[in-house]
Amino acid sequence: MNDDLSESGFDLAQVDRLLTTTRAVRKRLDFSREVTDELLFECIDLAEQAPTGGNDASRRWLIIRDQSLKDQLGVLYAEVGTLFLKARGRLDGTGHPKEHIVSSSAYLVENFSKAPALVICAIWGIHDNSGRPGLFDSAIPSAWSFNLALRSRGLGTAYATMLNEKPSEVAELLGIPDGVTTLVCFPVAHTIGHDFSPAVRRPASNIAYFDQWGFTREQPSIDGSSRIADGPGVVAEIDTDARPKAVWEVVSDINMPALFSEEFVGADWITEGEVGVGSKFKGKNSIRGVREWETECIVTRWIEKQEFEWRITDQDNPGAIWRFELAEQGPGTRLRFSMVIGKENNGTAPRAQEDPSKEDEVLFQRRLIHKANMQRVVEGVKSLVDDEINADQ
Ligand SMILES: Cc1cc2nc3c(=O)[nH]c(=O)nc-3n(C[C@H](O)[C@H](O)[C@H](O)COP(=O)(O)O)c2cc1C
Repeated sequence: MNDDLSESGFDLAQVDRLLTTTRAVRKRLDFSREVTDELLFECIDLAEQAPTGGNDASRRWLIIRDQSLKDQLGVLYAEVGTLFLKARGRLDGTGHPKEHIVSSSAYLVENFSKAPALVICAIWGIHDNSGRPGLFDSAIPSAWSFNLALRSRGLGTAYATMLNEKPSEVAELLGIPDGVTTLVCFPVAHTIGHDFSPAVRRPASNIAYFDQWGFTREQPSIDGSSRIADGPGVVAEIDTDARPKAVWEVVSDINMPALFSEEFVGADWITEGEVGVGSKFKGKNSIRGVREWETECIVTRWIEKQEFEWRITDQDNPGAIWRFELAEQGPGTRLRFSMVIGKENNGTAPRAQEDPSKEDEVLFQRRLIHKANMQRVVEGVKSLVDDEINADQ
C-alpha cells in the first residue's frame, strides 16, 4: 500500500490540506475574474452529497448574477454590516485580537456586490423550534461542503449570514416564496493565491470529553479506557457577565477556591513580593476531616487577565496541574478552570495503578469529586463578579 494513502485510499496530505485551509476568504477574493456556471454546478453537485434529515431533497441554491440585484443585496448586507465598519474604526492599529477579522469583515461589507456570483443556500421549511431535524440541520452540512468544493477548485468565499436579518427584503428582491428559509449568501470568487493556512484552534485534548462532560485526556488512550499515563483531567467552565479584569481579581486570589471547594481549605504564599512565574505557595486540603494534606505549589503561568497556572510539588513531575483561563466572550468572560492529574507526587496515581483493572474506575470517581468542587468554584466566582455588576447598576 502506498504510505501516503489512508486505509480508505485517500491521499491524506491533500484531504487534510483541504480540511485545514478552507478559510473565510474576503480580502483575497478576486473580483476581476469570472466564475463559470459550470464550476458552480460542480460545487453544488458535490455539496448536495451532504446528509439531509429524512433524505428529503429540500435544499435549493439561488445564484445571483445580475449586477443590479447584487448591488441591492450589497446595500442590505451593508445595512446589517455597519457594526463592522464602526468596529474597524475603533480597532484598526490597536493589535486587538479581533482587529484582523473585523477589518476583513468590514472589507466584505464594502465589497459584497463585487463578487462574480452570490450563491444563496436555502431550504424549504420554516424553523418551528420543534427540535425535529430538517431545516438548519440539513442545510448547514451542504453549505460547508460547498465551501470545501469551492476551495478544492481555486475558489473561495466567506460563510456570510448577515442577510438573514433581512429575510423579507431578500425574499421580495429575489422572488423567494413563503415557506423557504435562506441560510447563507456566499460571495463566490476565485481566490488571489491558494496558500491559505490552518487556523489556530483549541486542540482536541482540550475540548474532547470522555464519558462525562469535562473529563479530558492529554494523550489518546491505547484501549479507550482512562489511564494515569494518558493525563486524565477535568474542566469546568462558566460564562460570567463581568469583564476579564473583574474575574482576574477573583481568580488570582489563591485563597478564593477555599470559599467554595469542599476539599481545598486555604493557601499561604511561601515566596514574598510580586506574584509571577516561579512564585510558590502552600495549599491546604482536607477530605471531610478524614484526611488532611498540604501541597507546595509553584506558579507556572501568570498572564494577567488571561491565565493562572500552578503545579503541585514538583514543577517537572507535577502531582497535578491546575489552571484558570479567561477569555472575552461577548461583553463578558468565559472562565475555564481545568486540572490534569499527574503521573506521580499525588495520592491518586498510586491508588489508580494498584490494580490496572480498576484504574479507569478510580480515575472516574476521583474526577467526579474534582468536577463537583471545580463546578462550585466557577459558580462561586460567577456569583461574586456578577453580583458586583448588579450592585453597580
Ligand atoms: C454561522 C456562521 C456565520 C457567519 N457569518 C458571517 C458573516 O455574516 N459575514 C462574514 O464575513 N463572515 C461570517 N462568518 C465567517 C466567520 O467570521 C469565520 O469563519 C471566522 O472569521 C473564522 O475564520 P476562518 O473560518 O477563516 O477560520 C460566519 C461563520 C459562521 C460559521
